[in-house]
Amino acid sequence: MRKYEAISWGDIAVNEKISERGFQTKAPEPWSIDYFEDKFAKSDPWKYFTSTYERTKYQRQLDVIKDRNPNPQRILEIGSAEGAMTLLLADQFPEANITAIEISSNALGRARNNLLRFADRIELINADIAEYEPRIEDSCYDICIWSESIYYLGARLPLTATYDLLGSVMDKLKDRGLLVMANTLGLPEGIPEHVLTKRPIIDCYYFLLSSLASPISKSDYSEEKLGRMYEYQIWAFEPKL
Ligand SMILES: C[S@@+](CC[C@H](N)C(=O)[O-])C[C@H]1O[C@@H](n2cnc3c(N)ncnc32)[C@H](O)[C@@H]1O
Repeated sequence: MRKYEAISWGDIAVNEKISERGFQTKAPEPWSIDYFEDKFAKSDPWKYFTSTYERTKYQRQLDVIKDRNPNPQRILEIGSAEGAMTLLLADQFPEANITAIEISSNALGRARNNLLRFADRIELINADIAEYEPRIEDSCYDICIWSESIYYLGARLPLTATYDLLGSVMDKLKDRGLLVMANTLGLPEGIPEHVLTKRPIIDCYYFLLSSLASPISKSDYSEEKLGRMYEYQIWAFEPKL
């Protein structure tokens, strides 16, 4: 079994110290609820509320949504963590009702507090999207935002199930709806997600989606977070007509 350093890309500075002391642990596998409950044992592990890198990435996704639909009425967010993006969605789309699905109860508990002022427009659901998906209504969302989490599902599920899940999520959209995804590519070795974010694997999700939906845009970014450069892409797809 491969060994991983106890390091995350939200915690570079702290964990480099840990790695200097030679502390190593296995990444919990598969990438199931335990990994995320551990991760969210402490607040905002990926610095979603404070990192300029993350805020910029969110704003870029919001701009993609606004270009398509400045006033969405229903938004589905998959992997909403502690609600950093959910908060921006609620703030920037004042008429939107948002359904946010998150596997970690630790994260969702904090999201509940973070999103109190929009509680009347946000439904928070503590569930694994792979299990919960059949309970989500088809053809009723203007926007689905599913960022930085497909690669966890892709590592857990057989490829056939990942493909089916991508198709089922596209089915949640209205005819002129939009799926927006941000996905990191090629995280450095030493970060557990390194194995999930290799470029050919991320390319594979793009390829699968392209057979299920029509690509609208794909943009590449390379930006600094905590003293390292990271690459990510933002994709937008619409249902095939
Ligand atoms: C790397 S974080 C990304 C958070 C947020 N989407 C963003 O882009 O900032 C991945 C999130 O997806 C959640 N997640 C992972 N697998 C999931 C699943 N099967 N169902 C629901 N949420 C999941 C994790 O708990 C975590 O909050």
